[in-house]
Amino acid sequence: MQPLLSISEASKSFGAIRAVRDVSLSVNEGEILGIAGPNGSGKSTFFNIITKTPFGPDSGRVVLGGRDVSRLRSHEIARLGLARTFQRESVFASLSAIDNVLVAVENSAGHGKFAANLETAEWALDLAGFPANMHNTAAGTMPVFLRKLIMIASALALRPKVLLLDEPASSLTPHEVARIQVLILKLKSLGMTILLIEHVLPLLTSVSDGLAVLDYGTLVAYGRPDEVIADPRVIEAYLGKKYEPLAS
Ligand SMILES: Nc1ncnc2c1ncn2[C@@H]1O[C@H](COP(=O)(O)OP(=O)(O)OP(=O)(O)O)[C@@H](O)[C@H]1O
Ligand SMILES: [Mg+2]
Repeated sequence: MQPLLSISEASKSFGAIRAVRDVSLSVNEGEILGIAGPNGSGKSTFFNIITKTPFGPDSGRVVLGGRDVSRLRSHEIARLGLARTFQRESVFASLSAIDNVLVAVENSAGHGKFAANLETAEWALDLAGFPANMHNTAAGTMPVFLRKLIMIASALALRPKVLLLDEPASSLTPHEVARIQVLILKLKSLGMTILLIEHVLPLLTSVSDGLAVLDYGTLVAYGRPDEVIADPRVIEAYLGKKYEPLAS
């Protein structure tokens, strides 16, 4: 089977820092590729260069659905089906939940189709499991979990072929992490393809079909999650501690 998304020999440097070095990864349609690695290992930079948001790679190739998108601009890549969330918080605090998602829809679909855009935004919030009675509440007054759901809904509203999630579970309680796990599995059951960066390893290993580990910008392990977390190089580079699976 041809992968839905494949990245070949992608590299990105910032001056002397080689943030991503010759990384090649791919994901099949309907699967989840987990990406782990210590702080500063190049995970978010990898998402940046795939989506060209905010910058592309120095070198490398990105193929989506058999089409080379390496030379396209970020909005064209988004339109072809790549949507991401950001690790840093990127909601508009003074806007309501629905208006936050509407901004994302309008940036992608254009203004002037208000009723259709509103319907899409509501659909995306519902899909993300956002509470129906809080669509009109200002995002800035909400707990971090709900703001994370708004960010995820803003990406889902673009109806992506591949969803890229950068640490959706950071700063959450164990109960909220479990809800993110349920959401990710729901999206997978609907056929969505997902790239998931996460430090919460039990979450990552419980949902991922494949797991990649970066260290100093280099891919140090890639394979089945259970095999990867048992790899001595991964334990040395990253885990360094006993691995505890999520209680089910
Ligand atoms: N815009 C930038 N300008 C300069 N250096 C950058 C920039 N973005 C990232 N870096 C550097 O590139 C390296 C990789 O950073 P990146 O944010 O991709 O790591 P990460 O794996 O996502 O880390 P974390 O787990 O902390 O989120 C780091 O050394 C970082 O300081
Ligand atoms: Mg990061």
